[in-house]
Amino acid sequence: MAAGKGTRLKSKYPKVLHAIAGKPLLQHVIEAAEQIVPVERIYAIIGHEGERVRQAVGRTGVNFVVQAEQRGTGHALMCAREQLAEYEDVVVLSGDVPLIRPGTIERLCRFHLQNKAAMTVLTAFPTHPYGYGRIVRRRRAEIGAIVEQGALKGKQLKIAEINSGIYAFRAKALLAQLDRLKTDNQHGEFYLTDVAALLVKGGERVVALEAEDAEEILGVNTRAELARLDSILRARTAATLMTSGVTIFRPETTMIDSSVNIGEDTVVEPFVQIAGNTKIGSDCRIGSFSVIRDCELGDGVEVRPGCIMTESKIQSRAILGPYSHLRPGTEVGEGSHIGNFVETKKARLGRGSKANHLTYLGDAVIGENVNVGAGTITCNYDGVLKHKTVIEDGAFIGSDATLVAPVRVGARAYVAAASCITQDVPADSLAVARGMQVNKPEWARKKRESQLAAKSK
Ligand code: UD1
Ligand code: CA
Repeated sequence: MAAGKGTRLKSKYPKVLHAIAGKPLLQHVIEAAEQIVPVERIYAIIGHEGERVRQAVGRTGVNFVVQAEQRGTGHALMCAREQLAEYEDVVVLSGDVPLIRPGTIERLCRFHLQNKAAMTVLTAFPTHPYGYGRIVRRRRAEIGAIVEQGALKGKQLKIAEINSGIYAFRAKALLAQLDRLKTDNQHGEFYLTDVAALLVKGGERVVALEAEDAEEILGVNTRAELARLDSILRARTAATLMTSGVTIFRPETTMIDSSVNIGEDTVVEPFVQIAGNTKIGSDCRIGSFSVIRDCELGDGVEVRPGCIMTESKIQSRAILGPYSHLRPGTEVGEGSHIGNFVETKKARLGRGSKANHLTYLGDAVIGENVNVGAGTITCNYDGVLKHKTVIEDGAFIGSDATLVAPVRVGARAYVAAASCITQDVPADSLAVARGMQVNKPEWARKKRESQLAAKSK
């Protein structure tokens, strides 16, 4: 069920597309479901901003059912009548209950089938049950009804067992009751939860299975809950990484997406963000305040504090930072150095090359063992088009050089400091492109003396 608006989030975006741990809520739910059944048998019920939702998770290959008007969780399933009729049993997941584990769904299915139940409700006893529907038990595992927060009366207010919003149904039994749902409740909606009492009345078996971990059935209705679930999921990710041999100091300060891969003996310092499809090798060190997204790092890479890196590829034993900005398409060769206040974009540096200070390298192909002096700029943009700078193996670019692309500096050539290079430099040569130095002896002394003379008059 993913058709709701999520009014309590006060957002212009649909609730199920709000992200935790870098992925939309609904994506988490789909990924859990995919572990249980093939994707062709998963249906997402969409409605509010449905096209946006379809776009966001369409790649997973799930089917979509449209609930054009959102008249409650019971109504959501009414819209899926045709699809339900094709199956013996069905699991209903909530698009806003994203921490659910595949293992729990599997247990729910097994328990449901073993008990030959018409409906099995996954329940829990969270620390703060307020806001959830509560479970009114009959005897042993059996449920009499599910009562929503607003309708709780007297002793029911004390019930600590909540409805997770996750169920297994015998499809026929569910279909038989959907038409009987009424809207005589606080919100004037068709509540799926009312099916429980209807089934019991019809002599069917409705049972409860308690989740092993009350955390995994927490729902997202507010921004505070969104933040809380995000931190739970990231803590899970950090714990998994630590189990696999990654050192994370102060894991509660890091934001690592569950899609990130990190090798053994890599150390992650406090306040680091690692997002998207990032793969980091072993024996690396990721310095504090670095933000790494969709990057690939080899082994033994040192990322000093404060680096921002996106869609870049770093070979083993390279050293980056502090404060380097690697933009998409950067490739840093083995053992290369990118230093402080260096910005790169679509720049390839061969093995052992260095750009250590205050430099911009854009649309550049740089060979091996090149030294790029402090303050070097590749002028890659002429206002309309981007052009390429090539620096061949072993070249030495003096400080403060500007390389006006398209231009090529040949192998082992030298570019004198502060040169503005507009023509290719042949291999093994020296290029000097700046005003010649003129020394005027005694010039300063004479000027000082004439100024003093003028003042004393
Ligand atoms: C629901 C349950 C409540 C349970 C809680 C667990 C009902 C009536 N109540 O309450 O017992 O404790 O979940 O998290 O079911 N949706 C649709 N179409 C709609 C309405 C909702 O697809 O017309 C979807 C929402 O997008 C959401 C899910 O169903 O993913 C749950 O809806 P929500 O409004 O959040 O229900 P709760 O009030 O949390
Ligand atoms: Ca909810």
